[in-house]
Amino acid sequence: MQQSLLGLLLALLCAAGASASSAANQLSLPSYHYAAPISVECMNRSSETGEHIENPDSHEIEWIPFPVCDETKKPLEFNYGLEGEVNCTIPMVSDPFFHLLEFYIHSDAPLSCRLPSRPPPQLEVLGEKPAAQEYIPLVFALAGTLQSSHMHISTHMNVLLHSTPKHHIHPHDSGVLDSGIAYSTSPLSHMEGSWTRKLIIGDPLPLSFSVRWFPTPALPKTEGKVEWQGIGGHIYTSTVFYSLVSFLAGACVSGVYFLGIVLPSRLKGRALGGATPLGHGLNGIGNGWGIPMAKRNVD
Ligand SMILES: *[C@@H]1O[C@H](CO)[C@@H](O)[C@H](O)[C@H]1NC(C)=O
Ligand SMILES: *[C@@H]1O[C@H](CO)[C@@H](O)[C@H](O)[C@H]1NC(C)=O
Repeated sequence: MQQSLLGLLLALLCAAGASASSAANQLSLPSYHYAAPISVECMNRSSETGEHIENPDSHEIEWIPFPVCDETKKPLEFNYGLEGEVNCTIPMVSDPFFHLLEFYIHSDAPLSCRLPSRPPPQLEVLGEKPAAQEYIPLVFALAGTLQSSHMHISTHMNVLLHSTPKHHIHPHDSGVLDSGIAYSTSPLSHMEGSWTRKLIIGDPLPLSFSVRWFPTPALPKTEGKVEWQGIGGHIYTSTVFYSLVSFLAGACVSGVYFLGIVLPSRLKGRALGGATPLGHGLNGIGNGWGIPMAKRNVD
């Protein structure tokens, strides 16, 4: 009896120990500090077919750095948690790169890139295999139109990046990448001064990115409520509830107002020519509130 109890206790301790050690493994993996650079790498593709290029031996996809930006003289980078505008001018669109842009714009091949979800480990625990680097996909949905000799390309892109959820202690806390997407804005606008650019081989390609970060994989919430900062401002789920309540309350008040004040004065007004604020005679069909005829006899 005592032995089996001891066995159970041991089993529980072991289970607890095992889960603690796997949690410790997760904890020992590094996180990005606020503003840490995260470099973008993309699939190398054939400019003839748009197909991705594989290492002939391992058949692994070949990832190459994003083209070098004239502003930084480095391939494109984002900074963990840092929001704002990032410019990256590719100084000269070469012939093969121009053909790749045609594939991207036709979506024959996406501009498929990736970001390391965590920074590389700095310390290696002796005798332990370092954890494999994990990446999140980042597709640049580049939009534009193709003409025979040139293309129009929407050079302004929004970049949305999500962190994995965690309890954030500081406003500029560290974290791990969860997911992301980048897309050209206003692809149909060809107006002067917009972000659409006419491009021929040899031109520079001035890309600009508006980067925003989300602290979790979820879309923005305020005080636990889903928030859509859409056309017309913020809409909260609670707003919808309050709107409904105030609509009903409003309907009640209006009904009381109508039955208690408008209707009696209309009844009196009938003798005086029937002019009422609502402009409907009592013999008219609708009163705007759908109050049944029977109820009109109140008073
Ligand atoms: C991409 O692949 C092509 C074809 O194999 C190769 O010529 C080119 O050097 C590669 N690009 C980079 C940046 O490694
Ligand atoms: C990015 O480029 C635009 C257009 O050339 C310029 O107006 C803007 O100031 C630049 N922004 C940054 C952050 O460099």
